[in-house]
Amino acid sequence: MEIAKVGVLGCGLMGHGITQICAQAGWDVVVREVDQEKLDKGIGKIEKQLARAVEKGKLDHNDADAIRGRITPTLDYADLSDCDLVIEAITEDLDGKLAMWREVDPIVKPDAYFATNTSSLAVADQAAVTGRPERFLGLHFFNPAQVMPLLEVVRADETADETAELGLAVGAELGKTTVAARDNRGFIVNRLLVPYMLDAMRAYEQGVGSVEDIDTGMMAGASHPMGPLTLADFVGLDTLASIADVMVDAYGEERFSQPETLRRLVEAGDYGRKSGRGFYDYSGETPVAVDPAR
Ligand SMILES: NC(=O)c1ccc[n+]([C@@H]2O[C@H](COP(=O)([O-])OP(=O)(O)OC[C@H]3O[C@@H](n4cnc5c(N)ncnc54)[C@H](O)[C@@H]3O)[C@@H](O)[C@H]2O)c1
Repeated sequence: MEIAKVGVLGCGLMGHGITQICAQAGWDVVVREVDQEKLDKGIGKIEKQLARAVEKGKLDHNDADAIRGRITPTLDYADLSDCDLVIEAITEDLDGKLAMWREVDPIVKPDAYFATNTSSLAVADQAAVTGRPERFLGLHFFNPAQVMPLLEVVRADETADETAELGLAVGAELGKTTVAARDNRGFIVNRLLVPYMLDAMRAYEQGVGSVEDIDTGMMAGASHPMGPLTLADFVGLDTLASIADVMVDAYGEERFSQPETLRRLVEAGDYGRKSGRGFYDYSGETPVAVDPAR
């Protein structure tokens, strides 16, 4: 099936990026949020990025207008009814995702494909509450979706060959590098990356190094483009905490569990870059390391 219209659920960190790249690929996009404020915030980010691309001469003014024109923000699930592909990027919470699919499935045309951008939940669990598990797959984008080249295409047991092929084709259309991953918790990248970020927090708690020195160590010593604590702030500490909970349950290994510092930061509402504070304070021109263990 040709994709002409894509539905995106959630216009947060990931949803706004997925919306933007799908519109840039020439697809009409309907993006749904839970309230007007969140919707406006996500759309505002897209508009800002398009304006910046025009300013820098990377995008023609008319093309930017056309991209924005292909995006329809909504609060109403009914507007997704004629989408060919619906990608969810809502909060990492299984019950919330299941409740959402139960509402969306009967509304959207039966031959549409459904995809989850979950970082850690089982694709199969979400597919099972829809009447179309064979048309359901994982499309795991990376943050920021506009920049990061990878798309993990995740196949659950009931995902049909045609659906998996559709996932690879969507990746190619979006100019992404695709990898096929099994429906295990964390797929390929988070299976490796999440315990690494959590371990960096434990190293910090044990006094191995300061926030800045742990980050600098991994950048200068392992050629990583950013350190693990900066990366955690970038992912969103609330999202990382949810992923850790899912993974520790799934694998039963302590290294996937939330370190105390992460738990405390999330309880305080310090979610990293998106809330303005996490392992770093983002209120000034440049991020300043804070000492969250105190
Ligand atoms: N943050 C990352 O680096 C990253 C990377 C890849 C995948 N993911 C996954 O993407 C998903 C979203 O993560 P995020 O970082 O964008 O979180 P986020 O908190 O920035 O955004 C989630 C958004 O979903 C909205 N939402 C909740 N229920 C909704 C519903 N029923 N309909 C429409 N919108 C709804 C919330 O209002 C919120 O704005 C999660 O499953 C996460 O695991 C995150």
